[in-house]
Amino acid sequence: MQILNEENILKVLNFRHACKAFDPNKKISDEDFGTIMQGARLSASSFGFEPWNFVVLNNKNIKEKMLDLTWGGQDALKNASHFVLILAKTQENLLPNSSFIKHMMNDVQKLPANIQEKKIEFYTVFQQEHFKLLENKRATFDWACKQCYIALANMMFVAALRGIDSLPIEGFHQDNVNILLEKEGVLNTKESKVCVMLALGYRLNPPKHAKSRQNLEDIVKYV
Ligand SMILES: Cc1cc2nc3c(=O)[nH]c(=O)nc-3n(C[C@H](O)[C@H](O)[C@H](O)COP(=O)(O)O)c2cc1C
Repeated sequence: MQILNEENILKVLNFRHACKAFDPNKKISDEDFGTIMQGARLSASSFGFEPWNFVVLNNKNIKEKMLDLTWGGQDALKNASHFVLILAKTQENLLPNSSFIKHMMNDVQKLPANIQEKKIEFYTVFQQEHFKLLENKRATFDWACKQCYIALANMMFVAALRGIDSLPIEGFHQDNVNILLEKEGVLNTKESKVCVMLALGYRLNPPKHAKSRQNLEDIVKYV
């Protein structure tokens, strides 16, 4: 199945840029935003465990409190049509015997008991030995974050396919944002914490700079 030709794929990839100034008067339609969120939902994840949650931040009061903590997304907090917090699950939620992993295998993946048993065996060895994810809580959280970035990329790509601009945001004080959001009742840091943010909307101006990238031959090696 070929949906887009090469020229159009490159057009979409080049259309996407880090949008530094959003038009405060342009809003993404519910339909388009729903499609972008399907990009998140249908993303790949390790073992299919979807170690993420998404918070669409509409609350102006919380957004204002986030401004000082989010140096990399101040325009976006004020002017973007939609502002999404991408939360990654903590270690507690990702241990083989956690209720979240059980829920994923029972209710989402609907696996029979004998398959669940095998999967958990693999998952345990993978976590403990192959990827050493249990060395500390941070290792497991960062593993969840890596997968959240797949969802992030898909959301940006789907947005670009619909002519919608985006800004991924890591420019924030992670601990302080989590403390604020916990205080505001947005999240429970025992279960999940913010790993990255994504603003979506429409550009106010064309991008200031042309894309700068290394050449393919400098980053790809064929062996
Ligand atoms: C994970 C991630 C976090 C980023 N955080 C910020 C940010 O906080 N503020 C910002 O203005 N740009 C941020 N950027 C945008 C990058 O600076 C930008 O993607 C890069 O310079 C390449 O430019 P382009 O996206 O326009 O092609 C981030 C990008 C990524 C992928």
